[in-house]
Amino acid sequence: MSQTVNVKLNVNGAAAEIELEPRETLLDVVRERLGLTGAHAGCEQGSCGACTVLVDGELTRSCLIFAVQCEDKAITTIEHFGSPGALHPMMEAFRRHHGLQCGFCTPAMVLTAIAFLEESPHPTESEVRSALAGNLCRCTGYAGIVDAVLDVAGVAE
Ligand code: FES
Ligand code: FES
Repeated sequence: MSQTVNVKLNVNGAAAEIELEPRETLLDVVRERLGLTGAHAGCEQGSCGACTVLVDGELTRSCLIFAVQCEDKAITTIEHFGSPGALHPMMEAFRRHHGLQCGFCTPAMVLTAIAFLEESPHPTESEVRSALAGNLCRCTGYAGIVDAVLDVAGVAE
């Protein structure tokens, strides 16, 4: 039987103590233990960005970090920012600008865009594209995504 440890996590402002195996990634824990399925398992090797969450405010690929490394850190997932009945302005903008197709990349795209605008509230299109470069959309609908971010920033042409 695998050895388990108790880990205290703070996810979206709520404390949770979870017994887990040290090998479990943060992605596994938010999805499978906490039911927060907005972070998606794409490549699971750090390439696609679909699993992005915030750890102490930093964009983090949750497939590349063990949950035990996140003890006493503030973990924020896309669920923190909105729900189907109360969309965040960035979510609304993605919908308005057709910034999603299958939706697989969308939660991480939206989370990344929100975090980016907090750092750079008045970006150029080039800066938006650069900020989102680590998030792959296999439907390749980047134009609508960029338009949505520029719209929220209030710098759309
Ligand atoms: S699933 Fe983590 S980067 Fe692709
Ligand atoms: S909308 Fe399908 S992967 Fe981006």
